[in-house]
Amino acid sequence: MYDAGKVVIGLAIFACIFLFPFLYNHGSAAPQPKPSLDTPAIKALPQKKCVEDTKFMITTHMQFLNDWRDQALRDGNRWYVNKEGKKVWISLQNTCLKCHSNKKEFCDKCHNYAGVDPYCWDCHYDPNGSKL
Ligand code: HEC
Ligand code: HEC
Ligand code: HEC
Repeated sequence: MYDAGKVVIGLAIFACIFLFPFLYNHGSAAPQPKPSLDTPAIKALPQKKCVEDTKFMITTHMQFLNDWRDQALRDGNRWYVNKEGKKVWISLQNTCLKCHSNKKEFCDKCHNYAGVDPYCWDCHYDPNGSKL
């Protein structure tokens, strides 16, 4: 013998617990962070463009920075030529962080959300802030 009433209540509780996160966030798992582009260097740009296109930067900047390091250190070549043929000086501190001078509101914002903590700042420093 089983108690139909209890099963129904059990199912209702299960449905609430299961659906709550979806209803609460309108279907998405958690709010996406919005990295801030509000820096003096970016404001002064005639065109709001990164070193490469935005989609590439979002998905590939980790590998991209590794390639930059290898090119600069192994090949001794500090000029990177981007897909548009523009020359860019290879430097984490003086190029990336020159435009993105708000590391806390930019890099860190995404990284905290994604749960990654790049160890780069053990040696490289954020010219605009304190060493983290
Ligand atoms: C000349 C200034 C400039 C430099 C140098 C620069 N960025 Fe950017 N970056 C921008 C701008 C402007 C955007 C926003 C582009 C857009 O809105 O489509 C951006 C966007 C990005 C994004 C995507 C952010 C998002 O979610 O919208 C990432 C990631 C990024 N940059 C990382 C880097 C890294 C890493 C470097 C160094 C290799 C770098 N940037 C160098 C200006 C720069
Ligand atoms: C749009 C969000 C976003 C922005 C902005 C962003 N990152 Fe990232 N970054 C990520 C994510 C997500 C990962 C983890 C990717 C993975 O594990 O595949 C990551 C990983 C990295 C890694 C590799 C770390 C590791 O342990 O593998 C480096 C290095 C890095 N980011 C540097 C930067 C720097 C420098 C900036 C600022 C100039 C920056 N990122 C801005 C989202 C972002
Ligand atoms: C153990 C110390 C150390 C760590 C950790 C480290 N680097 Fe470096 N990195 C260096 C040194 C030293 C240089 C050479 C600087 C020079 O020749 O001017 C360098 C150079 C570079 C360069 C090329 C030139 C420049 O000035 O930016 C890039 C790009 C770079 N590193 C990226 C990274 C990234 C991305 C991380 C994290 C994933 C990282 N590094 C972690 C020590 C380190």
